[in-house]
Amino acid sequence: MKSVILLGPPGSGKGTQSEKLCKEKGWLTISTGQILRQEIQSQSAIGLQVKQLMEQGSLVPDSIVLTILSEHIAKLMQNDKAVPGLIFDGFPRTLAQAQALQDFSWAPSQVHYFELSDDVIVDRLSGRRVHPSSGRTYHIHHNPPLQEGIDDVSGESLIQRADDREEVIKNRLKEYHAHTAPLIQFYQDVSKQSKQVQFFVYDASLPIEMISEQFQNHL
Ligand code: AP5
Repeated sequence: MKSVILLGPPGSGKGTQSEKLCKEKGWLTISTGQILRQEIQSQSAIGLQVKQLMEQGSLVPDSIVLTILSEHIAKLMQNDKAVPGLIFDGFPRTLAQAQALQDFSWAPSQVHYFELSDDVIVDRLSGRRVHPSSGRTYHIHHNPPLQEGIDDVSGESLIQRADDREEVIKNRLKEYHAHTAPLIQFYQDVSKQSKQVQFFVYDASLPIEMISEQFQNHL
C-alpha cells in the first residue's frame, strides 16, 4: 500500500488535508496526536503517562510513540478492507522516529512538507475547534462548521484543545524547531539519494482548497 508523511509545524494544516483526503478519496490516516488523545480520554496507563506532557506542549518519548504506533498498525493489518493509501499525520517527529519508520512494512514513498511561519500558527491554533472523538477539525473563521460550535457529522459539541492555549503553543513551536524541523533536511537528503522517496513543499498560508488541489495532484 502507498504511504505518505505529512510534515510541518503545529497548525500548518496536516490534519485538515488528511481529513479531506480520507473523505474524498478513501485514504486512511494514522495521527499519533489523535491516538494519544484517545489514550488520555480512555484513562489508559499510557494516557496517564502522557497527559501532562501533551498539555504542556512537549513531545511524548519516542519509546511510547513507537509502541502505540506498532499496536495501531497491527490492528489495521487485521482489517482487510482495501484502501488506496495511508497517511502518517504528525509522525515521525524526531530523527529516531524517522529512522524507525524506515524499517516498517509501509515505509513512505512521499513526504509532504507544509511550510508556515510562527505568527500565522498562533492565529490558526487559537481559532481551531475540534470534535474530540473523531478528531474532525474546524476553524472559527477559515473553516467554520455549518452551525457554530457543533460538529457537522455527529451534531455533537466542538471543543478547544487544551494545548491550543497561547503559552502552550509557544512550547509546541519550540519543540517543533528543536526536534521536528531537522526532518526537513533529513527527508530532502533521503529523496536526493533515493528516487523511491519524493519530497514536496507547500505554502501552507494559501487557502485550504488550493493546497488540497496541489497536494492531491502529487499523490
Ligand atoms: P498533534 O495532534 O499531531 O498536533 P500538531 O502536530 O501540533 O498538529 P496540529 O493538530 O496542532 O495541527 P495540524 O497541522 O494538523 O493543523 P490543522 O489541520 O488542525 O500532536 C499533539 C501532541 O501530541 C504533540 O504536541 C505531542 O505532545 C504529541 N505527539 C503527537 N505525535 C507525536 C509524535 N510523533 N512524537 C512525540 N509526540 C507526539 O489546522 C489548524 C487550524 O487551521 C484548524 O482550525 C484548521 O481549520 C485551520 N486551517 C488549516 N489549513 C488552513 C488554511 N490553509 N488556511 C486557513 N486555515 C487553515
